[in-house]
Parts: sequence; C-alpha cells; structure tokens
Amino acid sequence: MPTRPATTTVTAPWEPWWTGAVGYQVYLRSFADSDGDGIGDLEGLRRRLDHIAGLGVDYLWITPFYPSPQADHGYDVADYTDVDPAYGNLATFDRVVARAHRLGLRVVVDVVPNHSSDRHPWFLDATSSRDAAHRDHYVWRDPAPDGGPPNNWVSKFGGPAWTWHEATGQYYMHTFLAQQPDLNWANPAVHAAFEAILTFWLERGVDGFRIDTAHLLTEDPSFRDNPVLHEVAPGADAETVYHAFDHRHDLDQPDVLAIYRRWRELVAPYGALLLGEVGLFEPEPVGRYVADGALDLAFYFPALKVGWDAGAIRDELAAALAAGGDRLAWPLSSHDDPRATQRFGGGERGAARALAYLTVLVGLPGNAFLLQGDELGVDGTALTTADPERLGAHGVAGHDVAGRDVSRTPMPWDGQTNFGFTSGTPWLAFPDDTSLQDTVAGQEHGRSQLRRTRALLAERARLPDLRGDEELEWLEGPDALLAYRRGRTLIAMNTGRTYQPIPGGRDARARFVSTGEVRRDGDDLLAPPDAAVIAELRG
Ligand code: NOJ
Repeated sequence: MPTRPATTTVTAPWEPWWTGAVGYQVYLRSFADSDGDGIGDLEGLRRRLDHIAGLGVDYLWITPFYPSPQADHGYDVADYTDVDPAYGNLATFDRVVARAHRLGLRVVVDVVPNHSSDRHPWFLDATSSRDAAHRDHYVWRDPAPDGGPPNNWVSKFGGPAWTWHEATGQYYMHTFLAQQPDLNWANPAVHAAFEAILTFWLERGVDGFRIDTAHLLTEDPSFRDNPVLHEVAPGADAETVYHAFDHRHDLDQPDVLAIYRRWRELVAPYGALLLGEVGLFEPEPVGRYVADGALDLAFYFPALKVGWDAGAIRDELAAALAAGGDRLAWPLSSHDDPRATQRFGGGERGAARALAYLTVLVGLPGNAFLLQGDELGVDGTALTTADPERLGAHGVAGHDVAGRDVSRTPMPWDGQTNFGFTSGTPWLAFPDDTSLQDTVAGQEHGRSQLRRTRALLAERARLPDLRGDEELEWLEGPDALLAYRRGRTLIAMNTGRTYQPIPGGRDARARFVSTGEVRRDGDDLLAPPDAAVIAELRG
C-alpha cells in the first residue's frame, strides 16, 4: 500500500497541498552515495532525508533515476517504470517514499515525455523497420530534396535536430542529443503509454511530477522551417545557434496544453501535483501553461537569470506574477545553470545575496525552490577539474567552461573522506576550495548559511500571510531596494552598498534578517546591504 505523508499542513484543507509550499531539488547522482560507486543513489537519499525535512521544505523533486545509458544523466530514459541499478531498485524507491512521508515530506518525480533514450525498447523496435509496431512512437521524416535534413530545426545541444537512419532511409528528430529521440505526440499510442506511466508512479505513492521540457512535446504538423532571426558566425556554440532562430514551429505549440488537461484529470484523484519545466522566457506564454486546468505550477526560469539589481528583479517578478499569479515555481538555482551564489558574485557575498533572494522568493505567491546545496551556499565557481570529454556529451555551451557541472557537484556532508558523499571516487569533483565549513556538519553552528536557511523557512511556516492567497502589493522605495507586502507581512531586499530605508518600515517590527543587522534611523527601519528583511506590520 502506498503511504501518504504524515504532514502537519498549514494550508486550509480545501487548498491543494502545494499552495505556498517550498520545494527542494535532489540531483540524485550528487546527493549521497550509499554503496561506494561514487554516484549518489536512492538508499543514500533515504538515509539523508532527515536533513531535507529539517530544513523546513514541504517536498522534494528527485531527478531521473530510471534505467538509462546516462548520455544526459538520466534524461535519456530506457525504461519509464523501473529504477537504474546504479540508483537502487523499486523496493529502495518505495522505502524513500515511505520514509519521506513519515517525515511529512511529499515526493515528486521527474517524467521525461519529450524524448526517450535511443536504447528504449520502443526506439530499438522503431529502428528495426518502417513497419515496426513502435515506428510511429517517434518523429520520422523523409530527407529534403537535396538529401539533407527535412527542415532547418536545430538541436539544443548542437547540430541539426535530425539524424539520418541509414537502415530505414529516414531522419528522426531529436531536440537534444541524437541519443534522445523525440517521441511523437501526434500518435495516440504515446498518450496512452504516458498515462500508464503516470498511473504506475501514482499507485506507488508519489505526490506529483516534474515534467521535463513541458513546452516541447508537440511540433508544427507540417514541419515548416523556423524563421532565422540573425546569422551566426561559423563555429558558434550550440546555444548561440539555437537562439538565432524564432522557434515558432518546434516548441510551445497550442495543442500541448490539451495533454496536460488530460493529465490533470488523471492525477486529480491522487491529489498529485503537475509541475512543468516550461523553458520559455516571456511571462505570458508561461502563464498559458497554468491557466484553464492545465499544469498546477510552472517553473519560471527568468527568475534565475536576473543579476543583483533590485529594479531588474522586481520588474521580472512583477511581470511573471501578472501572468502566472500564484501558479509559478521560483527556482533559486537549477542543475542546468550556475547557482545563485555564483551568479551573484560567488564566495561569502554571493551566498549572502542568494539567501536574501531566497527570502524574496519564499514570500511570493507560488513555490520557492532550492537546489540541494543552496542551503550551504555551495558555489561551484572553483570547479576546475571538470572532465571535458564528459562535458562534450552533455554540457551546454554558453554557461561557462565547466558547462552544467558547476551546479551538479556532490553534496558535502561532513569531515569524512570525500566530505561524506562517497567512500569511493566521486563521479564529479568537489569545487577545489571546498572545506569543512561548507559541509552540513560544519554549518551546524554559528551564523551559517544552513542555520539561516532553516530560520528563514521556519519564519515562513509561522507566517500564514505567505502561505495562502494573500495579495501581493509592491512598495515604492529607494532604487536599490525591492519591497512588497502581503497582508501584515513585509519583505524587503537591499541590493545596494549602503543601508536603505524600508518603505512602511516605521510601523514594522523586523522578524528575520538574512545576514547582518537591521538598524533604526529615527523611526525608519533600515535594511543592511546584500540582505533581505521580513518584518511584521503593527497595528
Ligand atoms: C531539461 C533538464 O533539466 C536537462 O538537464 C536535460 O538535459 C533536458 N531537459 C533534456 O531532457
């Protein structure tokens, strides 16, 4: 029998459990290794669930643990209803869910519906002949008249989005690596297959799904060329080439929403969450995914691109809220991008700013999201030992020399060998400057990032204004200050170099400051630089 979380929910009983929740991303490969092979696994996660529960988050999302050749670290799935032996087995998975539920944590798993692995039995069958039973599970096209790819679509990971299959004389489509063939969502059999996959995991007790590349599933039925926005220099990196096109025909097609409306009906009886990875960078299109019974929540990625500038952050967040209301998830970091600590300048200052920004995100309607290690201020900047060959396979150019590895370094737990992550050789090195102070054990004392993160999340749990549907009102103040209120709760963040007065602060009592100390100047309440304040309005 699947378990259900023994949660002490603070939301009203008629609200879904994720209302105003905080999520925690477990990048499984790098979380905790229980068997010494250098790769994090489900048993390692189970043993460390207390750490996650102790932070005060409501749920975790576990990145793919399904059988996979690991061409894209599990985002190339060879079997959607099993566990890769490197990560454990279905029984270990069940134990993770049971323990998480006992701790009051919900569990969300990744579903990867845009593409499978080229080792998936469906694709192996599809490539056996044009008449194969699963041929139409994938997107096949005849060559263009010159024998080249059928259109000008490009892969996000470089080169054309098409690979020639000599034996059957057609091209197949892949938005990512050639080892990740796109599934054909024009085929009802693919819909049925995924409905069965979702049901399989729901019956095992999961509390929801993070939907990989939720905006990419369907394509223009006539496969027209994408308009070229501008020319790029020969040899330009994959990201530059990708962004040189207007992707009007290969992503964000209107029919994709019908898939999620159907899934919504399917998951509703289980009270499960549909959280989409909607990789679009304008508020309105993202907002469409959470309207009219489609997804429950969509990640809003521009939130992790903004620099340390109160005005720019406010504009970004305000536009997103206007389009997505309380149905957005706000990632502080992700496994595909440099972490907040690194983006905001690295080191202690970067970590302080990341915590301030998390304070702002936690107060917004919707769900704030941490990536494992954010609670320690893990940085990644000093990662110099990334393996270029491995990056060649799944790193994304355009971020930095270490591709996506900078946000995927192993969790530092304590002062043991390899910081307690593994007794073997970690699959990816720790940043060179990692020390005991960066570990969970090393941060159990003093004013550490870990203890402050816990204090922030405890404060949130005490403030019902931040959990329900309380309206958000932006407050005008100095340029370097972002401020809003919800009910009687006021949140302000100072990106300047000096103390800044908080609008409305005269009538407020500070309850939490991310780093530093608040000051009073006459009646004014002042926020310290590189910090955020939560205050309660009096009267
Ligand atoms: C988004 C995932 O976050 C990323 O890691 C992966 O490479 C792509 N989707 C393809 O599945």
